[in-house]
Amino acid sequence: MTGRLITFEGGDGAGKSTQTARLADYLADLGVEVVCTREPGGTAEAEAIRLLLVSGDRGWDPLTEAMLHFAARREHVEKRIRPALASGKWVVSDRFYDSTVAYQCYGQGVAPEDEAVLRRLAIGDLQPDLTLLLDIPVAVGRERALARQKSRYEAMNDDLHLRVRTGFLEIARREPERLAVIDAAQDPDSVARAVQTVVAGRFGLS
Ligand code: TMP
Repeated sequence: MTGRLITFEGGDGAGKSTQTARLADYLADLGVEVVCTREPGGTAEAEAIRLLLVSGDRGWDPLTEAMLHFAARREHVEKRIRPALASGKWVVSDRFYDSTVAYQCYGQGVAPEDEAVLRRLAIGDLQPDLTLLLDIPVAVGRERALARQKSRYEAMNDDLHLRVRTGFLEIARREPERLAVIDAAQDPDSVARAVQTVVAGRFGLS
């Protein structure tokens, strides 16, 4: 029996970390063994790469930046995600490769063909079973994120964040069977209920 991979995606301030934890609790209450994780990160090695990407103020070349995200992702997939799935656990990840498509391709101009090459090299054909896109207008997400210290990405301009939102919505339009779009401007309880309805329906849980 292999587990399931569920990912959360969306712009900054959409509430992904809260909803990742709430979905993990919901699944655990149903008796599912869950691994709750995040990207960039999820292993010590990938968290070390995260520090370079998220808290530094370096001006990476965009393709270099995509390579760093995939380097972190390979560590995460090989050492944490695949072993968990192989032992029947469900993995809930706060971000996965759709973030690279949205931020590095739509946001920073990396060619989609280059992302595809990196993805295949780093993680083969692994795909999430379900991706929950927490969609929120950029201004609302940015307002919410004001309270915390800005990451390198949060410090980037509104235009980039608008392109990132468009990117996520286009991915959802292209792959409607994998991605469900959730209105993340609602209060957290309503978002959590919407997430649970999608997950229960998709996997036949009750
Ligand atoms: P977080 O704020 O959701 O923890 O994510 C850290 C930042 O990293 C977020 O602003 C988006 C960015 N990011 C990318 O640009 N590409 C990626 O592939 C991933 C996973 C995250």
